[in-house]
Amino acid sequence: MQIPFFDYKRQLKIIHPQIDQAIKKALNSGWLILGKEVENFESGFSKYIGTKYGIGVNSGTDAIKIALRAIDVKKNDEVITVANTAVPTISAIREAGAIPKFIDIKNDFTIDENKIEKTITKKTKVILAVHLFGTCCNMPVILNIAKKYKLKIIEDCAQAHGAKIKNRKAGNFSDISCFSFYPTKNLGAYGDAGIILTNNKNLADKCRSLRMYGMKKGYYSHLEGYNSRLDEMQAAILNVKLKYLDRWNKKRQKIADLYLTKIKNHKIKFPEIQNLQNNNFHLFVIRTDKRDGLIKYLNNKKIGYGIHYQYPIHLQTAYKFLGYTKGSLPITEKFANQILSLPIFPELTEKEIKYIIDKINKF
Ligand SMILES: Cc1ncc(COP(=O)(O)O)c(C=O)c1O
Repeated sequence: MQIPFFDYKRQLKIIHPQIDQAIKKALNSGWLILGKEVENFESGFSKYIGTKYGIGVNSGTDAIKIALRAIDVKKNDEVITVANTAVPTISAIREAGAIPKFIDIKNDFTIDENKIEKTITKKTKVILAVHLFGTCCNMPVILNIAKKYKLKIIEDCAQAHGAKIKNRKAGNFSDISCFSFYPTKNLGAYGDAGIILTNNKNLADKCRSLRMYGMKKGYYSHLEGYNSRLDEMQAAILNVKLKYLDRWNKKRQKIADLYLTKIKNHKIKFPEIQNLQNNNFHLFVIRTDKRDGLIKYLNNKKIGYGIHYQYPIHLQTAYKFLGYTKGSLPITEKFANQILSLPIFPELTEKEIKYIIDKINKF
């Protein structure tokens, strides 16, 4: 048996006729960029999360960059976030001209909210909360801190489609939130795509303008903007797939539940999960001090795996200028050497899940 870490083709096989039809319709509509499909997706996805406005953009990275610009983040303003995230969280901050300020994480891999206050300076503008692997940050506490210090919050929800705290979905806690629909995401396009969500009409209008060269109506730039539009084909695909998102998330939860209850190996530490039903299990990340051995073993057993993320951002060459060194973020750095992501996509078969559990138990 050979088990991939992720395989979009398995899902495509199931929904192929609907996808073909949606692409055909979009192609024949006579309008290819920012049209009806995009409008439908913007309203459908914002309704799904529970926000008023949605602005489709080119990628999750652009969503963060535009959101930062929309809330008036300026050159050298400070943005509090984590180093244990995908690089684009940070590259978006830099594209907006701001300075990322890193905070260490907790055992659940998200920002340690107790360390935020002492990192706040006069230059701090935003807390960029990254809901990682499908686990939400502690938003009630972060909201209180933001209120106390008059800071804005942006949620990076690239890995949190449908994840919740109580009954409130990730992406509906902050001034503005950003999603990626990169193909591997719980809701993935067949190319690059992203969206910005907000309940604030002014912010929505500003984002809409920023994604289109800073224009409102007509070919006139009111702001220095970008080309970051969502195209009709990707939106049509996302409109089909959105209907399945809850079902697919439930399947991920089922697999996670099996891993959590059936994997019994003292060398393996599980992720800290507060509430199985609220997690979207974008990734299932275990920790082990025997990672090199486990990697060899998984390769040998033909089980795919990932490492999210092997190199903490503050120690990567591109970001050395920020001034962090080894030891700056002890938990982030420790976990980077221990983590390993097991396959967890909705189309994994029962046989494959059993095989993974059995092999990990024998490791
Ligand atoms: C946490 C996080 N933030 C931002 C992004 C950026 O999204 P995109 O790849 O759509 O630019 C990603 C995905 O790559 C991500 O995982």
